[in-house]
Amino acid sequence: MTQIDRQKYKVNPLIDAEKLQARIDALADEIAQQVPKDITIISLLKGAFMFTADLIRALHAKGVNTQVIFITLSSYGSGTESSGKVSMPHDLLEDVQGRDVLILDDILESGRTLDYACRLLEERSAKSTKTAVLLEKPGKLAVERPCDFIGFTIPDEFVVGYGLDYANHYRELPFIGVLVEN
Ligand code: IMP
Ligand code: MG
Repeated sequence: MTQIDRQKYKVNPLIDAEKLQARIDALADEIAQQVPKDITIISLLKGAFMFTADLIRALHAKGVNTQVIFITLSSYGSGTESSGKVSMPHDLLEDVQGRDVLILDDILESGRTLDYACRLLEERSAKSTKTAVLLEKPGKLAVERPCDFIGFTIPDEFVVGYGLDYANHYRELPFIGVLVEN
């Protein structure tokens, strides 16, 4: 695992914990109106784990039952620029045939990660597939794959916290912030 010296960086707060929770609650409302009452969540590790934990509890409060499947897709390596190539290092995708699926990711940039996940679920014969991301960086889509539900649109900066990482660090922050060098 890549080691970084956290003394060299600081994180400038962008979205605080309270705003995250309020938006996730509103997002759960939107989603609950458009999906069946029983859905399968496909959560993309590692970045979406915190978003997933909060969103499924918010969905529960709106009367939506979920089953959760975690899969790992990777594109970033340990840097701040995407390699542009998405892969699934281990196939842990359980049977989704005939299931209504909601894919969750932390952030939408080129769209390649969501596109890969959607294709995978189409191949595995999911009945329906919707997508939700907590964050999007606008104007960066490289593939035709619009996302159904978006939490926040943010500036084109590298962000960490609330599950998002830099070299696997900073996921534990309860807020989203911009990573800057000291
Ligand atoms: P896309 O495939 O280009 O849409 O990129 C989405 C993936 O890149 C996400 O699943 C994140 O893991 C990662 N990513 C994109 N931007 C950031 C960022 O600002 N911070 C941390 N991870 C990011
Ligand atoms: Mg990710």
